[in-house]
Amino acid sequence: MKIQSIRGTHDILPGSVELWQQVEATAHALFELYGFAEIRTPILEETELFARSIGTATDIVQKEMYTFSDSKEKQISLRPEGTAPVIRSYIENGLYREGMVHKLFYIGPMFRRERPQKGRYRQFHQIGAEVLGTDHPAADAELILMLRRFLRELQFHDYRLLINSVGCFECRPTYVQWLRGALQKFQTLCPDCRRRLEANPLRVFDCKNPACQELLHRVTPLLERLCPACIAHFDSFRRHLDQAKVDYQVAPQLVRGLDYYVRTTFEMVSDRLGPTQNALLGGGRYDGLSEAIGGPPTKGCGFALGLERFILLLSNQEELGASYVPPRSTVFLAYLDDRAFQECLRLAEELRAEGLSVTLDFEARSLKSQLRLADRTRALFTVVVGDLEIDSGQFKIKRMADGMECTVTRAQLASYMKEQGSATASQPAC
Ligand code: HAM
Repeated sequence: MKIQSIRGTHDILPGSVELWQQVEATAHALFELYGFAEIRTPILEETELFARSIGTATDIVQKEMYTFSDSKEKQISLRPEGTAPVIRSYIENGLYREGMVHKLFYIGPMFRRERPQKGRYRQFHQIGAEVLGTDHPAADAELILMLRRFLRELQFHDYRLLINSVGCFECRPTYVQWLRGALQKFQTLCPDCRRRLEANPLRVFDCKNPACQELLHRVTPLLERLCPACIAHFDSFRRHLDQAKVDYQVAPQLVRGLDYYVRTTFEMVSDRLGPTQNALLGGGRYDGLSEAIGGPPTKGCGFALGLERFILLLSNQEELGASYVPPRSTVFLAYLDDRAFQECLRLAEELRAEGLSVTLDFEARSLKSQLRLADRTRALFTVVVGDLEIDSGQFKIKRMADGMECTVTRAQLASYMKEQGSATASQPAC
């Protein structure tokens, strides 16, 4: 029986991977301008890390992690997100001792056992960034400015920014207690929300059930019950956004699916992703997360963008494409016999050393089928090698775009193709 990929995972083939590379390269270049350095953490972590950070009452920890026993006493999980591992690493490697703000970014796969659908996968990729060591609202706003620029550089404009504050350890517990009481009165809450009321009433705001949404609009949101310090923080965050002329909507219902957030939360959503999975990225502040996993008091904020969702939007596709397009080579070397094949192997290495991409056929097929292969690799030039070329040292180069031919010496091959590779087809080849 044919073995297939795991449900909710996908291959990224040549032809699609180039867009991923472009997005990743843009992130690398731009994030560095904002002072971020890349961090790579393991895909496997102790389950306890996610339980203590994301929260035991969240969907992620309760039902979505891939968890298994490593040894009798240790449970480990495939990481469902990148923030907790970054903080774990920050603590473990003593970065906090350097007494400065650390800005770290990451790109990599995450795993959640969710029901797969458009834009929702079991292995997906995030580009994330974390700022550690400051609670200044300008740091939260700077993340938004960096994201705005990132999306603009990739010519993506079709999104809305939603912001909110979910309070702090001072004001939130009182509100949560009040909310539980207020919601208990509503008999029409769905069974899921009834369960959430016990463990984590704020999560009720995340319910997609229209009847529950309707009820929630009648409840005073946390944003209107913040303590003075949280109000000041949120106002300052907004002022920074206003000064930079950032468009945003305050969304008092925006609670995020992870429990570590305090104060700022935000999402960038795109209606083109569909009504339920519309978040392109999400983030916020998580002062207190370091302490929750045994580290020193550390303030921090960050975000993560879902790469699959972004790729769907950028490529205007409904599903992630899996059509294969072979890579383009600069030159295809064709040969007439074995002597010429040996010469082509040597020549290929010399041309590659000059920075040209070279393809040749290993199967000693007819010249006709070698040239068909040259077409398939969309080679810019073809060189046919036989006794004549080897003995005379003169090689005929054919420019595939217009069929123009030119004869040069072996030593001139690389420089000729470099020059002509950037010229247009209408220009003379010789
Ligand atoms: P999150 O909202 O859980 O936040 O995930 C961030 C983004 O990852 C989402 O907006 C979405 O684009 C993408 N994503 C999440 N789950 C899936 C899935 N199953 N399939 C495809 N894409 C998905 C976090 O993960 C936080 N660590 C963000 C953060 C960083 N907060 C502070 N720093």
